[in-house]
Amino acid sequence: MQRFTNPRDIYHDKGALEALKTFEGSKAVICVGGGSMKRFGFLDRAKAYLEEAGMEVRIFEGIEPDPSVETVMKGAAFMAEFEPDWIVAIGGGSPIDAAKAMWIKYEYPETTFEDMCKVFGLPKLRTKAHFCAVSSTSGTATEVTAFSIITDYERGIKFPIADFEITPDVAIVDPELAETMPKKLVAHTGMDALTHAVEAYVSTAGSEFTDADAIHAIEMIQRDLVASYNEDMTARDNMHTAQCLAGIAFSSGLLGIVHSMAHKTGAVFADLGAHIIHGAANAMYLPKVIAFNAKDETAKKRYGVIADYMHLEGSNDDEKVAALIEFIRGLNDQLNIPHCIKNYGADSYPTEQGFVPEEVFLERLPEIAANALLDACTGSNPRQPSQEEMEKLLKCCYYDTEVDF
Ligand SMILES: NC(=O)c1ccc[n+]([C@@H]2O[C@H](COP(=O)([O-])OP(=O)(O)OC[C@H]3O[C@@H](n4cnc5c(N)ncnc54)[C@H](O)[C@@H]3O)[C@@H](O)[C@H]2O)c1
Ligand SMILES: [Zn+2]
Repeated sequence: MQRFTNPRDIYHDKGALEALKTFEGSKAVICVGGGSMKRFGFLDRAKAYLEEAGMEVRIFEGIEPDPSVETVMKGAAFMAEFEPDWIVAIGGGSPIDAAKAMWIKYEYPETTFEDMCKVFGLPKLRTKAHFCAVSSTSGTATEVTAFSIITDYERGIKFPIADFEITPDVAIVDPELAETMPKKLVAHTGMDALTHAVEAYVSTAGSEFTDADAIHAIEMIQRDLVASYNEDMTARDNMHTAQCLAGIAFSSGLLGIVHSMAHKTGAVFADLGAHIIHGAANAMYLPKVIAFNAKDETAKKRYGVIADYMHLEGSNDDEKVAALIEFIRGLNDQLNIPHCIKNYGADSYPTEQGFVPEEVFLERLPEIAANALLDACTGSNPRQPSQEEMEKLLKCCYYDTEVDF
């Protein structure tokens, strides 16, 4: 038996934020990040719409990018005191993910962070509050997914919480919120969305239901991502839809080892000033993982199908896989994202020698590889790597060398 789970309602297109006016309840908490939603007026609008619906509204603000366990606990304490019956998270993946984890702790105060991380092991939510997510970036699609990524900074590791219980009740996908994104954010979140769609399409947990969303998302991203990056607002609006479709695909169809590696390299070099941004990590690792997975015949065929839908050149699957890899590398160039960790420099731009020195990378490699193998996304990857293969793959991602194993 397989399961395909989505929010009950997805309000989309311009003006969708106004759906908040129709919510029923008495108290709502709005969870928000560091300031962009306030600066552009979306926070005030959301608050006013909820008040128009007759609710008392409080705001929990200041959720940092890549939210920490500590922030989750603080937000849950805030909720325990206010006792909202709606949690409305507005912003990028970070505030929405943090709010999802706060929701768990608010519903079950005894839950520890370790409990939350047991894959598909959460108790029933919605005994105290319903959850609405309003996304302002075009990548994570956390507004529709069963996932939340929280960082344990003591261990330098990102932990995915995965359970259909945290799939929001309502998603609001209003492209107006994404129009204010700076270019770099467009690039990173867009490559995150592409990675979601590609990984979901070759995942061993995929289905016809998720394939349809993944393929259409890939076609849209091919058409719109670079134009969106170059400030074409019609393309920007389309990307907001495309990333959501990719989210619908991977929430039920799951992901693969690009994400395992991104989760385990994101914060592990933070002591060197190198925070490897999620979308940039995916953009660098995706071509390497495609080459690795394509040694599996089924995965190779499926990459071939993706290449066909994208109208890429190639008369057999090997050529199509090569064309797909070249296409993604070309995207990285157009979006100013490096091809490997070695070249990952300030502001995530390519540079000759980036933040992470070779000797530090090699020293931490065995542990990173072991952690990546244990990541929740590894199980649905079409090819299961050994520790040795994972280390080799990560080396290719460090040096930008060819994957021939
Ligand atoms: N839950 C999931 O399924 C899932 C999937 C992929 C990634 N993630 C996680 O999501 C996080 C990344 O989320 P993200 O990429 O959406 O970025 P983010 O939420 O971390 O935001 C990044 C920055 O962009 C700003 N910002 C957000 N929207 C803006 C807008 N419209 N205009 C201007 N500035 C804006 C924020 O204030 C912040 O400073 C990571 O922690 C990642 O691991 C979660
Ligand atoms: Zn992602």
